[in-house]
Amino acid sequence: MVKHVFYKGEILRSSCDTLAVLVKEKKYELIEDIDKEFSNIFKHSVKIGDFKGEAGEVILFYVNVNSIKRYVVASIGDEGLEGLRIAVANIVSKVKDYSEKLLIHIPDIDIDYSRAIEQSVISVEMTLYDPGDRYKAREKKEVKLKEIYYSVIDEKDYSKEIEKGIIIAEAVNYARDIANAPSSDMNPDKIEDEAKKLAKELGLKIKVLRKKELEKQGLNGIIAVGRGGSSEPRLIILEYKGSNRDSWDIAVIGKTVTFDAGGLDIKTAEGMYNMKFDKSGGAAALGIIRAAAKLRLPVNLVVALPAVENMPGPDSYRPRDVIRMYNGLTVEVGNTDAEGRITLADALAYIEKNYSPREIIDLATLTGAIIVALGNHAIGLFSNNDELAKELTEVGEFVGERLWRMPLWKEYYEQLKSEVADINNVGGRPGGAITAAAFLSKFVENTAWAHLDIAGTAWVQQHGPKKPYYPKGATGVGVRLITYYIMRKYGLQK
Ligand code: BES
Ligand code: ZN
Ligand code: MN
Repeated sequence: MVKHVFYKGEILRSSCDTLAVLVKEKKYELIEDIDKEFSNIFKHSVKIGDFKGEAGEVILFYVNVNSIKRYVVASIGDEGLEGLRIAVANIVSKVKDYSEKLLIHIPDIDIDYSRAIEQSVISVEMTLYDPGDRYKAREKKEVKLKEIYYSVIDEKDYSKEIEKGIIIAEAVNYARDIANAPSSDMNPDKIEDEAKKLAKELGLKIKVLRKKELEKQGLNGIIAVGRGGSSEPRLIILEYKGSNRDSWDIAVIGKTVTFDAGGLDIKTAEGMYNMKFDKSGGAAALGIIRAAAKLRLPVNLVVALPAVENMPGPDSYRPRDVIRMYNGLTVEVGNTDAEGRITLADALAYIEKNYSPREIIDLATLTGAIIVALGNHAIGLFSNNDELAKELTEVGEFVGERLWRMPLWKEYYEQLKSEVADINNVGGRPGGAITAAAFLSKFVENTAWAHLDIAGTAWVQQHGPKKPYYPKGATGVGVRLITYYIMRKYGLQK
């Protein structure tokens, strides 16, 4: 991690070797007030048409004033906070191999300074994340950039915002680490270790339901899916109490299939290539509780990870098996590759019954069909509650993790009929993401619930999501979304 510092002095007098200034489309006159020194060379680039001011555009000049050797101008375009995150990401990518100390100056670009600084810090850390850090021995890249200073045109101190940004970015990168980890290093057993480590570090209560307890509780969906795995299935629950209410405010459930081979309905080689990422929902859930605890948010949050491997083997659950689920419903297994909904169904019902939270949000790389529907540029949102759906959508816009709401009309439920059981786990190809969500809805009785299908956005695929603050691999999607949702709804620390 680089060092982040709030800078109060005169910007041309800092000891940084690089000065970067943010501009907003068509608001270039600002730059003159900041530094008479460089405004002419910048204005020239505008005049000859090189710099157009679109979001993310970056231009670099070599200069020599005091310590400053490089002068960078980056535009947030007309895109508000997302434009700012993109501009900052591009500044960092541009200079990280040359500059050691970078000063990012944020003038009045119609963004509240506290937000601008917090989002800049997040963008920097998300951009510098390197998925090769853990495993590359030889080619490991040291970034030269060590310190970043932030300055604004204001007398206030924004060090608190820097701290907050760091916590949130670290939570995102922590979730990325878990999602990126090879399945052999992050099977259900290792997920438990990871969750325990986190619980210890943050002082959280943790409960792990292993085979015996799962059987006793009748969590037969989790057991069935996990039967083919060499690491036993388990339901991991972490509790964070940030408020003295004695009820639970919010539950976050993350799909944690540490590898999805498809089970006996095995996937093709191509289809399973990226299935180490099928634990991205659970990884995000851990990131969220980490952020909430470190920020000491005044909320009672419980997160649950049904951790399984979906593998073919002699003991695997089989097509046409019938599972008696935790809530008593029977499920006919139409396809063993539709495993996430079975594990989540049990987790949803268990958490609703045993915790009675006010609201439940699940995050899951649930269906390939959501990618067919929305591509890689939106999370599929399904909800039984308009207010919750609306708020999540707004926060998604704010953090740059877009949501698009999908219907749950009763007609879709027809596709899930089974001849022998209450419900089938698959509903055919049409509306595949919707029938998956419809299946889940059968396991939530009367709690405000939102299901987020992150299959298209949890890692960087061929067609996206493409953003300068998304390096290759896991995106950590969901962490910022739900953390900000909680902050907005339940407030900041008291
Ligand atoms: N984990 C997959 C969904 C997935 C596919 C996520 C591709 C990201 C990229 C899920 O468990 C699955 O296999 N779903 C099947 C459902 C089908 C058998 C009804 C799918 O989408 O093909
Ligand atoms: Zn899966
Ligand atoms: Mn599957």
